[in-house]
Amino acid sequence: MEENQEQQVINMPRIGDAAPEFKAVTTQGDINFPADYKGDWVILFSHPADFTPVCTSEFMTFATMEDKFTEANCKLVGLSIDGLYSHIAWLRTIKEKIEYKGMKDVEVNFPLIEDIKMDVARKYGMIQPNEDTTKAVRAVFFIDPNGIIRAIIYYPLSLGRNFDELYRVIIALQAADEFGVATPADWRPGDDVIIGPAGSCGDAKGRMEDSEIDCKDWFFCTKKLDKETVLKRVLNKK
Ligand code: BEZ
Repeated sequence: MEENQEQQVINMPRIGDAAPEFKAVTTQGDINFPADYKGDWVILFSHPADFTPVCTSEFMTFATMEDKFTEANCKLVGLSIDGLYSHIAWLRTIKEKIEYKGMKDVEVNFPLIEDIKMDVARKYGMIQPNEDTTKAVRAVFFIDPNGIIRAIIYYPLSLGRNFDELYRVIIALQAADEFGVATPADWRPGDDVIIGPAGSCGDAKGRMEDSEIDCKDWFFCTKKLDKETVLKRVLNKK
């Protein structure tokens, strides 16, 4: 740590915690979070500032992918420490003027929270003072239909997020819940899934003998889970 950096205690919710509650004004009207999203998965994400290039590329990408997230029963909610009129002007400029990587006329239809007083950003630990004191870092909270935080990813100001990864996380979390499995490195629907470590030697032996399950050793067993089965259960469940 550099000498002029301060060590501060930042309150931030953790995986398994209930998502902190707040009411806010957004580009799509007022919201009461997470109550308004009960029954849906939600990605609550922050960006440093309106009218900045990395954020613009991120919003265009996320908005272009919104239908995929909707199919996965996942709503998107953005936030920055800017006011409503700035948000509206920025999103209008994106739609009217910005063409990037084949994306143009991009309309952002998910809500973008105004958080001038940083109330929400502070509740979620989105302000990391040694990175910036007045801009939120690129935080991503994955919240389940019961309002529980299930995964968190943080990126610094300079690094645009990988939205395919955010989509992969949403599908993997839901697949884990639906099928009672874990997902290995780089998992995508159609790849083998992990059966949790056996609770006893007896379990392990049973597994080693189960022809559906491929045990590399007692602690590392996988099984097939085909892509259609995963997608049928996870997409458009409602
Ligand atoms: C950007 O989105 O381009 C950005 C925002 C704040 C700091 C650095 C980059």
